[in-house]
Amino acid sequence: MLSQKSLFPIRSAALALAMGLLASASIAQPGPGRNENAMQETRDIAAVMLKELGQTLQSALTNGGPENAIGVCKTQAPEIAKNLSLKHQLLVARVGTRARNPVMGEPNEWQTQALKQFESRIAQGDKPQNIEYVEVVKSGPYDLELRYAKPIVLQPMCTTCHGSPEQIPAAVKAKLLALYPNDKAIHYKPGELRGAVVVTRILSH
Ligand code: HEC
Repeated sequence: MLSQKSLFPIRSAALALAMGLLASASIAQPGPGRNENAMQETRDIAAVMLKELGQTLQSALTNGGPENAIGVCKTQAPEIAKNLSLKHQLLVARVGTRARNPVMGEPNEWQTQALKQFESRIAQGDKPQNIEYVEVVKSGPYDLELRYAKPIVLQPMCTTCHGSPEQIPAAVKAKLLALYPNDKAIHYKPGELRGAVVVTRILSH
């Protein structure tokens, strides 16, 4: 639950360490083996999400052009997230630093925190593919909630819909304006942080 106190904000892959700390704090928790698997599985799921988003978008741009590709970002991206969520019994989504979709694209509190960390680490020269956010919080009397995020960085092909107004073709601009009157997701440059893939899951007893 969001209102619950954050026990261990962890910046990198230190879940094993966190589990050690939790054990010494004698909080009910699953065995370390299982949690380590959960961590790796979560990482893999985020990677699959990123890869599928990229591939689907790339082929939509190639096959139908940018106007058609709007549908990929609008319909297929949530669909990919939903399928992964159902398959693995957790919650996968993507959020933006400046969201286009005001409902689904806005980060919540911990996701905002993750995006801030990503931004400062990228500014320090860390490579986005080496950055991740991991946090474990208590959820209910027995469970723990694992929160994971991985950066989404803007690539050149994304500027067609997220770049400066001059980079966005007129027909795309018109469609975007009609669908998202309060669109904040423009003026991005390649290499800039666009958002994050976020995964939330319960580590049950
Ligand atoms: C053809 C246009 C188009 C292209 C190209 C495109 N996007 Fe998007 N993007 C959109 C639309 C439309 C949305 C809003 C989708 C929705 O309603 O959830 C969006 C939303 C997003 C979001 C979710 C947060 C938000 O702002 O609502 C992220 C993250 C994102 N795009 C990243 C990217 C990245 C990274 C690329 C390049 C690899 C890219 N997009 C390329 C149209 C595009």
